[in-house]
Amino acid sequence: MPIRTILVGPPGVGKGTQSAMMEERLGAKPLSSGMIFRAEIEAETDLGELAKSYIDRGELVPNGVTIQMMLKRLRSAEVQQKGFILDGFPRTVRQAEALDEELAKAKIELDAVISLEVDESVIVERLSGRIGCTKCGEIYHRINKPPKREGFCDKCNSPLFVREDDQPSTILERLKVFRANTAPVISYYEAKGKLIKVDASQDPDVVFAEIVEKLGL
Ligand code: AP5
Ligand code: MG
Repeated sequence: MPIRTILVGPPGVGKGTQSAMMEERLGAKPLSSGMIFRAEIEAETDLGELAKSYIDRGELVPNGVTIQMMLKRLRSAEVQQKGFILDGFPRTVRQAEALDEELAKAKIELDAVISLEVDESVIVERLSGRIGCTKCGEIYHRINKPPKREGFCDKCNSPLFVREDDQPSTILERLKVFRANTAPVISYYEAKGKLIKVDASQDPDVVFAEIVEKLGL
């Protein structure tokens, strides 16, 4: 049976890192709203231009365009077949309701919503050391997970970059936005009995093992 899950948690908690491990080891398709927006920005599309004005300030892109963009991808044949790991979506209760309607129409049941939890002090340390690959999206950290060759991706050799929204003042704004808009999404799924809480302060492999165990895989 394909896995259908959501990873939810504050910026820098490790959603992208775990989602990549889940793809590699469990075969489900990762769908990161942030990564899709960054690809649109890179391709200089209208959606990219709109998204950039919000992302650079650490604010949320409006619900309408975000919901449309994500539901379109959920309907793809690949996702239907492999299942999905949503990363960064839903991020508002409105988005969660839209996703629920979509899944109900398609008669798809979510396996679980995984809430990754860590102290805010750890988040700042993780985000201020993060570097990522411009091409394949692989995520590194200057101290926790340095690339073998400085400045270049181990997997595809492309140059590494620092995200524009990883400036200290933008990190604090993103944390504020998380508390105001996304913390209620966690309560929303908890009330539905779908929530699994995972301690994300541990080593990535330990976090992954806890996810697998709590999903009952
Ligand atoms: P998005 O790209 O989703 O950013 P985010 O939620 O802020 O999360 P991050 O990608 O920063 O962190 P992460 O949890 O993936 O952590 P990572 O694995 O990289 O969104 C960006 C923006 O797009 C938003 O601010 C918003 O403007 C817009 N947007 C996106 N979705 C939207 C939506 N649904 N609605 C509206 N707007 C939306 O790890 C971080 C670092 O820590 C890395 O260096 C990594 O190597 C390291 N690390 C990870 N795990 C561990 C570990 N266990 N131990 C030690 N280090 C670790
Ligand atoms: Mg991410």
